[in-house]
Amino acid sequence: MSESKISYITTPIYYVNARPHLGHAYTTIVADVMNRFHSMYGKETFFLTGTDEHGDKIIRAAKDENISPRTYVDNISGLFRALWPELNIKYSHFIRTTDPSHIAVVEKVLQKIYDAGDIYFSEYEGLYCFGCERFYMERELVDGLCPDHQTEPEVIKESNYFFKMSRYQDWLIDHIQKHPDFIRPERYRNEVLAFLREPLEDLCISRPKSRLQWGITLPFDSNYVTYVWFDALLNYVSALGYPEGELFHKFWPHVQHITAKDILKPHGIYWPIILKAAGIPVYNHLNVHGYWNVEQSKMSKSLGNVIEPLQLKNIYGLDAFRYFLMREMAFGLDSNFSELALVQRINGDLANDLGNLFSRVLAMVHKYFKGVIPEPDPNVEQELQFGGLSLKAEASKAIAEFEESMASFAFHKALMAVWEFIGHMNKYVDVTAPWELAKKKSSRKELEVVISNLLEGLRIISGLIYPIMPDTAFAMQKYMGADPESALNIPSSPEGNISKPFYHFDVLKKPKLILPGTKIPKSVPLFPRIETEKKDTDAADAGAGEPLLKPEIKPEITIETFGQIDLRVATVLSAEPVPRAKRLMKLEVDMGEKRTVVAGIAESYAPEELVGKQVIVVANLKPVKLMGVLSNGMVIAAVDEHGRATVARPDQEVKPGTQLR
Ligand code: ME8
Ligand code: MG
Repeated sequence: MSESKISYITTPIYYVNARPHLGHAYTTIVADVMNRFHSMYGKETFFLTGTDEHGDKIIRAAKDENISPRTYVDNISGLFRALWPELNIKYSHFIRTTDPSHIAVVEKVLQKIYDAGDIYFSEYEGLYCFGCERFYMERELVDGLCPDHQTEPEVIKESNYFFKMSRYQDWLIDHIQKHPDFIRPERYRNEVLAFLREPLEDLCISRPKSRLQWGITLPFDSNYVTYVWFDALLNYVSALGYPEGELFHKFWPHVQHITAKDILKPHGIYWPIILKAAGIPVYNHLNVHGYWNVEQSKMSKSLGNVIEPLQLKNIYGLDAFRYFLMREMAFGLDSNFSELALVQRINGDLANDLGNLFSRVLAMVHKYFKGVIPEPDPNVEQELQFGGLSLKAEASKAIAEFEESMASFAFHKALMAVWEFIGHMNKYVDVTAPWELAKKKSSRKELEVVISNLLEGLRIISGLIYPIMPDTAFAMQKYMGADPESALNIPSSPEGNISKPFYHFDVLKKPKLILPGTKIPKSVPLFPRIETEKKDTDAADAGAGEPLLKPEIKPEITIETFGQIDLRVATVLSAEPVPRAKRLMKLEVDMGEKRTVVAGIAESYAPEELVGKQVIVVANLKPVKLMGVLSNGMVIAAVDEHGRATVARPDQEVKPGTQLR
């Protein structure tokens, strides 16, 4: 943990050519976790995210949708901005490269570098990939194709402005060698160094307006716009009000960038050189993570395997989703996303290990102390050791490992350390056997100590999981009678200036935040188990007092989220069963427009029972192919536990297409 009291964390600014998906959510959650971790130390923090809105990619996406680039970028940027609060991501500033203040900074830096002689004009002929928006060298191609897009680059000849990156090659190599954690983990540092073993080409930083207009005009030649990467990277300083801004002076020296490996080259090579050439101090750290793949392949629109973060959150709950992402991926390596793995983590780590421990302890407070947190006799030894198990030692060890791992972005290790402690807590219950202590009056005081040690352990756990699962941390603290606000409002240590997260305080000694005398609720399901298809045989003996919730109990949503669902009345024009699918019925409906909808109601209705009747359809559901039939919407029905469906319909016939609100 660095002793600096200031933290500046950035995510990439995402292209607005596609909707936000799992990968964007991961990076931004990582940034949020890091930011919350630093806040716990009482650091002053700044957390930047935003959208990258210029360039060919965006123009083409806007054209595909037949709307103006301006409307297009506003729409998608709005989706990102609306998503982050849903994922409990608390950024300080959301930057858009179309912001006038950003544009002014890009112009200023370009002019500065131009005046210093590091930008020159020249004719260039090369192989250009429109997907990547860059020129390729012959040797970078794979079988003559762009390695990213598998398309053949086009030969383009044009006059452009070039940035003399080659001048800085030796400086950059030297800088990386002198600062071992400039780019981390090490594999990516090595990758950049390997790249720098070849001569560095100068970077083409302009695009002629005859080809592209959607960009920032070069301050020294109005026939050109700025190459999108030169524009985008500068967001990290423009957001802070470079060069004069107070925020810039305060936060820039502490910056930590976070990106995935896909944009290692612009961040590991272009960016430090731009900074150097512009006379801006080079960034501190670039933290690079791997890729989330789905079913072992890359997420892509064309494969139809793009994972939507909101969907997962809505099904499994936000904290479970955040936990899964942080626990499953080893930062730096690729990971495979699977819903099954997510369910296993929820049922195992969350419902079983943490959830059960919490319920068990709360249940014991009820059983032995009428639900009131006991106050141990100060004359009794507080650190009771049983079977060589010292909770205090285990807590201190977990805290140390947690902090060390967090500081190096090894989130999965940090969580392993916490779960190891959870394991010790569960073992502590077994070896202290409170139910035995409760049998004899003479061991009453020991029982008080054991239970308050367990509550204290839970308090520490709630603090450790806070950056990853803030809602759960708050819920645990609230149920234990601690005020989460004050629990996180970290007091400075008596020695003076270094603040420490509250989980450090009085490790298992005198609980200060869990107050004796507080009445606590009887049982709290922190994480509902997710029922899997196969009957879970050990569900019956899941911890005492833990209600088995069905996944159908969905998390609360806002009216805005609900408002995104377009429900409409439709009249069934025709109905026929889908061959080889005993549950599916294909309906042609009139919804003001004609549509085909496939519904899972064939076991409950005969086709003739539906024709001429009205039903309610989710009209803006993404079309899906079911048994070869494209379904453009979904019929709403009440489905009982035997799978029998009764379709919902308006009380009286209304005009087809009428909206439900
Ligand atoms: O590259 N797994 O934007 P972008 C993990 N605008 N992370 C992923 C991912 C995956 N499968 N897919 C995307 C750009 N990401 C530029 C950045 S910064 C000055 C300009 C995340 O929308 C990851 O953070 O293509 C990756 O680096 C980023 O999204 C790329 O986002
Ligand atoms: Mg990309």
